[in-house]
Amino acid sequence: MAATAEQIAEERPLGKQVRDALLARTPRSQALNREGSQVLAVEVVPTFEMRHPIYIESTGGARVTDVDGNSYIDLTMGMGPHLLGHRPDCVVDALRAQIDQNIHVSLHNPLQSKLARLVEDACRCAEQVVFSNSGTEATMYGMRVARGFTGKPKVASFSGSYHGAHDYALIKDNSESPPSDPTGKNYGRGVPDVIKDDTMMVLPYRDERAFDLIREHAHELAVVMIEPVQSSNPRTDIKEFLHGLNDVCRECGVLFMFDEVITGFRMAYGGAQEYFDITPDLATYGKALGGGMAIGALAGQADVMEMLSKGWGHPDGVFSGGTFSGNPMTMAAGIAAVEYMRDHQEILYPHLNEQGERLAREINRFCEEHQIPVQLMNAGSMFHFHFQRGAIERARDISDEHHAAENDFYLHVLGRDVIVPPLHVFFISEAHSAADVDTIIETFKDSLLDVRADRLI
Ligand SMILES: Cc1ncc(COP(=O)(O)O)c(C=O)c1O
Repeated sequence: MAATAEQIAEERPLGKQVRDALLARTPRSQALNREGSQVLAVEVVPTFEMRHPIYIESTGGARVTDVDGNSYIDLTMGMGPHLLGHRPDCVVDALRAQIDQNIHVSLHNPLQSKLARLVEDACRCAEQVVFSNSGTEATMYGMRVARGFTGKPKVASFSGSYHGAHDYALIKDNSESPPSDPTGKNYGRGVPDVIKDDTMMVLPYRDERAFDLIREHAHELAVVMIEPVQSSNPRTDIKEFLHGLNDVCRECGVLFMFDEVITGFRMAYGGAQEYFDITPDLATYGKALGGGMAIGALAGQADVMEMLSKGWGHPDGVFSGGTFSGNPMTMAAGIAAVEYMRDHQEILYPHLNEQGERLAREINRFCEEHQIPVQLMNAGSMFHFHFQRGAIERARDISDEHHAAENDFYLHVLGRDVIVPPLHVFFISEAHSAADVDTIIETFKDSLLDVRADRLI
């Protein structure tokens, strides 16, 4: 039987050394991991399973502390929500005040319209907003309202995209189909074929063939949905393509939706809409909007969004609902975070984007100098490591070429007290100071050299 990546890494002298050291200093984490694997079907999300699992007890700013008392610089940042760092004062104060008032009511609360006004202020296409508890729900509502409004059945998404965990979001690019004419493929079992065959289509990313396909399918396409920056392939040279899509959608009577679950409030206060100077019809939010609490939101033009306002059971309405949607704790945290972002945008976004650029530039330069086959792709403060040599234009170019090296690398990084989530998408926040970024750069460089010493790259 072929050795697993972990076995390969463990056999390497430095990989083994760092794993042994981690095992010795994290006994409580190891015990919790044994317990968790017996009772939990999925702990966090399977893709986040770390090569060396550690269990976190407390957090603050750019740091997390595990149950054994070890402190790390975190680059997971809750998978994106903690744009202001872990537990920023403004959010903690707002949550403390809110807990004295109420936690969850499911009656009208005064906070929803306040946060909706803030979204309207930041989001170019927002005339109305509906809240949910996750980005997954937000994209589900976005697709449904687009179908309801246009009366057309299909939604187009792009090869390499991620839009959440519902059935419609799990139709992915079939890598065996031609790159410029991709077909859809169910991502895992349990997704009915009817979703793929009758309700979704996949478009080629960063390929003008997408414009022709939208024209050809305009009669059945309700909406074209795109992550303005893909988390698997973060880059900013996408403005022209986004504008081209917006124009074609308008020409064809197809709605255009930005999935801003990651980019919203991260690339700029006005998200990717501001960054790329574009106004789609609809936009979805999540992550940073909630200030660390679970949230999703759909925002858009009033005529489309009004479909949601007609009330449950209305034959011309579009359904939305959720016990915890718009709950006061989440709204309070979101208001505190977004007001802070609005009031500090002149300092916050230059910091995030400049530190992000510096980190990627330094690592890429180092890799070139040392001929290490690794690329750190980024769009401002979001990053993705790719352990391969060839240029990455789109998701199909991503390879698993140096998988064992990648696993060895994250182990060495963890051994130096920096956490990169194994999903390989990572983030810096306002709380990551220039000195933290220096530490991260040195950690990455030293760890890459360790991987080389382990003869994996
Ligand atoms: C672009 C995008 N859309 C939607 C989602 C789903 O959001 P959630 O995980 O909150 O359901 C994600 C999550 O990472 C995302 O990156």
